[in-house]
Amino acid sequence: MADKGELKSISLQLKDESDTVALAAQLAPMLCGTDPRLETATPGGRIHLRGELGTGKTSFARAFLRAAGIQGRIKSPSYALLESYKLSNLYFYHLDFYRFRDPREWLDAGFREILQKEAVVLIEWPEQAGNSLPPPDLEISLEYADIGRNARLAAHSNKGLSWLITLAPSLQKSLARDNPGAAS
Ligand SMILES: Nc1ncnc2c1ncn2[C@@H]1O[C@H](COP(=O)(O)OP(=O)(O)OP(=O)(O)O)[C@@H](O)[C@H]1O
Ligand SMILES: [Mg+2]
Repeated sequence: MADKGELKSISLQLKDESDTVALAAQLAPMLCGTDPRLETATPGGRIHLRGELGTGKTSFARAFLRAAGIQGRIKSPSYALLESYKLSNLYFYHLDFYRFRDPREWLDAGFREILQKEAVVLIEWPEQAGNSLPPPDLEISLEYADIGRNARLAAHSNKGLSWLITLAPSLQKSLARDNPGAAS
């Protein structure tokens, strides 16, 4: 069922962690403004990562940040709530709201400012922040499957929609390669 404000969605199978990493590596250049297929796009964008414990939200975020060019240790923000990085004038914010309890924390920690900057923002457990958060450009929902994980990517803005449209042909190619019998 399509959520309110959803423009388009794609569902795919991530059969092991390498697929999660590959998906992140496809999206990273689009948000960094370095994907030649999205030449006119301004850098920055917000992705919400949803899914039960251990479904791969941090795996995705780490692979994304690595593909964006972040070097050194990429820590999970589960305790600090926020880990931030900067690379050639672009800010990256990786947040995890699992332990977030009180919307006042939001204001105290200055998170509102993060969303106003032109920045790349990845948020795990966005639902824990209640309605403090505006809708993302893209929401990625991960769930356990018989093999690996199922992922659903839903665009909530025109920017997110342009990422999905850019991503779709390469996803079809990789699905055709992995699963030649799948015609639908
Ligand atoms: N597509 C996949 N198929 C199977 N295993 C995967 C896949 N992607 C990631 N994993 C594995 O699943 C685990 C995901 O752990 P991770 O910490 O990323 O989950 P999380 O969603 O961030 O959990 P939390 O809610 O605790 O923050 C890792 O062990 C990783 O290797
Ligand atoms: Mg995590």
